[in-house]
Amino acid sequence: MKRSHRCGELRSAQIGDNVVLYGWVHRRRDHGGLIFIDLRDRTGLIQILFSPENKDLFSKAKELRPEFVLEVQGKVRKRPSGTENPNLSTGEVEVVSETLIVLNSAKTPPFEIEEEGNASEELRLTYRYLDLRRKKMQENLLLRHQVCQIARNFLDREGFVEVETPILTKSTPEGARDYLVPSRLSLGKFYALPQSPQLFKQLLMVSGLDRYFQISRCFRDEDLRADRQPEFTQVDLEMSFPDEKEIFSLIERLLKEIFEKSPLGKKITLPFPQMTYETVLHTYGADSPDLRFGVTLTEVTDLLSNCGFEKFQSVTKHSKGGIFGLLAPGGSPLSEKQIEILRNAAKEGKPGAKDLAPFKVEKGSLVSHITKYFKTEALERIVQTFHAKEGDLVLLVADENADVARKALGRVRDQLKEKEQLNLLKGKENECAFVWITDFPLFEKDEEGHWTSTHHPFTAPHQGDMRTLSSDPGKVRAHAYDIVLNGIELGSGSIRIHERKVQEEIFKILRLSEQEQKDRFGFLLEAFTYGAPPHGGIAFGLDRLVAMLVDLRDRKLSDTSEATSIREVIAFPKTQKGSCPLTNAPSDVSREKLKELGLSTKPS
Ligand code: AMO
Repeated sequence: MKRSHRCGELRSAQIGDNVVLYGWVHRRRDHGGLIFIDLRDRTGLIQILFSPENKDLFSKAKELRPEFVLEVQGKVRKRPSGTENPNLSTGEVEVVSETLIVLNSAKTPPFEIEEEGNASEELRLTYRYLDLRRKKMQENLLLRHQVCQIARNFLDREGFVEVETPILTKSTPEGARDYLVPSRLSLGKFYALPQSPQLFKQLLMVSGLDRYFQISRCFRDEDLRADRQPEFTQVDLEMSFPDEKEIFSLIERLLKEIFEKSPLGKKITLPFPQMTYETVLHTYGADSPDLRFGVTLTEVTDLLSNCGFEKFQSVTKHSKGGIFGLLAPGGSPLSEKQIEILRNAAKEGKPGAKDLAPFKVEKGSLVSHITKYFKTEALERIVQTFHAKEGDLVLLVADENADVARKALGRVRDQLKEKEQLNLLKGKENECAFVWITDFPLFEKDEEGHWTSTHHPFTAPHQGDMRTLSSDPGKVRAHAYDIVLNGIELGSGSIRIHERKVQEEIFKILRLSEQEQKDRFGFLLEAFTYGAPPHGGIAFGLDRLVAMLVDLRDRKLSDTSEATSIREVIAFPKTQKGSCPLTNAPSDVSREKLKELGLSTKPS
């Protein structure tokens, strides 16, 4: 028999129709001598009724168990008055079964295929094919699909051409370790999986393609977090002869279309605000601030240069030192444990701050384990400067490097929004605070004190800052930009270098010898000598974007849910340890296979 409808499609309009349905047994209930099956497919549930009049059919229905796969033929009828289910889109009707074919039986699943199961993530990933039967997971994948379709159509309309770039390739530096693939045909040599299509999309501009896009897989061997996966997807694009304004406008219109046309239907106001890196670092202590709430940094270096507390006073003697603070309104009831979490956030950066000084405002004065070291007037000045009121909490950080102190407070600020007592996000959970961060520094120092690229080495410097490129690289600003939504970096891009000379100068500052430049990026440098057009682009994380859309969708129902992990919007993700419990990847390979590749392994 041919399927006539999907389970979730039946409504009153089909009453009296003869239908053929396929699906899984979601639930079975025996009730008043009747058997009810909720039959499930991707579109939803429909109630199927088996009555004892048809003896064969009824005894077959008795054998049905959850997750059996069925073909059911029957008649749609209105549910008897009082038995309608308003929570179900098909809840006004039911199908009275006339034929039943069991297409497959099923073992009892290791967890229930209900909307909100409480199975562990490890178990869910081991049986991901069952986990993906759950309504919420199917909705997540559907939303992802819709976002991809909207992006594809939009970019096509804007003249972008979808081009695939290689997966087996050479290292593309994006700040992570490479995944390497040994070559059998060139023993001892390795491909690297792309950390992004960066170099190929630039080459496509040299090719005259003008506008490129790709929904591309990227691979990065880095420490994983809730918003990071070793393989993830970018909506990646590049255009020739652009200026930043054009790229911003394009991405704003694309995001607006995604938010408004996806089932979310969320109105987005354009244009998005823009802030320079320096401004956000000084104001929020972060380059991806959540602008849904205030709480800004205040500098108190001069104010506390003679405060009596030696640890604070000493940093003010360093030319780059500084003392900064922020006010957590109503934060004084935070417990010792909660304050410890804030302190750890301040200390955890690379480099982290040495400590965080918390001052509670209680009975009109500042209370802290260190107030005894402070002069009274210094404490009074803190209260005045922060406009601290009874019940507030003032958090201070001092460091010999002002930016270390600022970034520490930025992490503390992030933690504060999680604290229910402060209610910083109350009523704003569903707001979308987009912001462009511009004018990043071209370079930053790594842990060993060497210059590294803040974005990647192909980012164009500001023309006006070129004078100081070799004398003071830290002062050079980049034509780089990030798009941030509610404190999450969604995407990142830049205007690129298109001249060989400039690219070589940058490589030199990054301590790449001429030979290394040739070995690693010779093809790019060469391409720049054949009429490379000025070009620029951006990539945003598809997984991150969809996870945020899921958040916005689900928070309509509950305000307290935690941020959605990107693993919830990836069909077959890896665990935090980079493994796949379903397939057991990564796994051992036989000695013969290693030998073919000229490799051997040592026991770890
Ligand atoms: P970048 O490295 O900033 O830029 O990456 C762009 C966006 O990709 C997402 N992203 C990730 N998502 C999940 N897991 C990860 N491990 C991960 N790493 C990055 C983020 C990020 O903003 N080639 C440049 C783009 C360009 O310059 O055009 C690039 O890859 O959302």
